[in-house]
Amino acid sequence: MQVIRDPQKLILALKKSKAGKNKTIGFVPTMGAMHTGHLNLIKQAAKDNHIVAVSIFVNPQQFGPGEDLKFYPRPLKKDIQLCRKQGVDFIFLPDNKIMYPDGYSTFINVGRLSHLLCGAKRPGHFRGVATVVAKLLNIVKPDNLYLGQKDAQQAIIISRMIKDLNFPVKVNVLPIVRFKDGLALSSRNTYLNKNERTSAVVLFKALRLAEILVSNGQRNANRIISRMSQLIEKNKKAKIDYIAIVNQEQLKEMKKVKTGSLIALAVKIGKTRLIDNTIIGCI
Ligand code: PAJ
Repeated sequence: MQVIRDPQKLILALKKSKAGKNKTIGFVPTMGAMHTGHLNLIKQAAKDNHIVAVSIFVNPQQFGPGEDLKFYPRPLKKDIQLCRKQGVDFIFLPDNKIMYPDGYSTFINVGRLSHLLCGAKRPGHFRGVATVVAKLLNIVKPDNLYLGQKDAQQAIIISRMIKDLNFPVKVNVLPIVRFKDGLALSSRNTYLNKNERTSAVVLFKALRLAEILVSNGQRNANRIISRMSQLIEKNKKAKIDYIAIVNQEQLKEMKKVKTGSLIALAVKIGKTRLIDNTIIGCI
């Protein structure tokens, strides 16, 4: 496994390792602090491709003022070990200066998709995500990109950008990895104290409630959202940021739930903002 910090060096190393052999590259972009959610993406990339590249970069462009850029966990040694164990071939480990040198001026805006749901509360967040992913795709030039359904809006926005800008890469979105009690794995779970960790299950419980309501025949999105809100509000540590029922293509709010509707929510547990979602199966 090679750990490479310089984009030009990575471009050359990947070119050499691919050279004339029709090998495919699977790429998993991350901000590190790896957990089973990340490792699952890496495993799939290893199954599908000859070469696996992982990036670890806490991208400052996607953090707003007052967000957790400074405190974001960076257990680099452990991350590198985990990657080695999974058979990763290349870790790309750039720093801020090499990604955004003085004079850096180019950003990617993926239209209205970026201003809805999480984008409404985190202006500039998805611009930062789209920009860094575009840069990473240009450096790694993967055949396959692996993303998690955990960040549903992010996966939708990146897929839109890839389509709009003709990036020659296939997007693979893998299911959400959860703890036994249902909480979705997230690097930000490390911010939760013991009581908050217990409370955090409320996101999953609200999504389960929505699924049960739908399977019992409820189709009215407002009624489902209101039942989810009631359940979450019972928990004193939880503060709803948003609950939305939207279509996956345009993130357009739906009055009636359908097969494929995305139910997404963001809830603050204490000071920690958590997100989760589910997609309604065949109804
Ligand atoms: P990060 O939060 O490190 O997540 C990296 C990838 O892991 C993302 O595609 C995310 O959706 C996926 N992931 C995280 N938790 C998951 C879970 N519980 N189950 C399944 N997949 C999960 O997302 C980012 O980094 C950044 O925004 C990035 C795309 C790297 C751009 O900076």
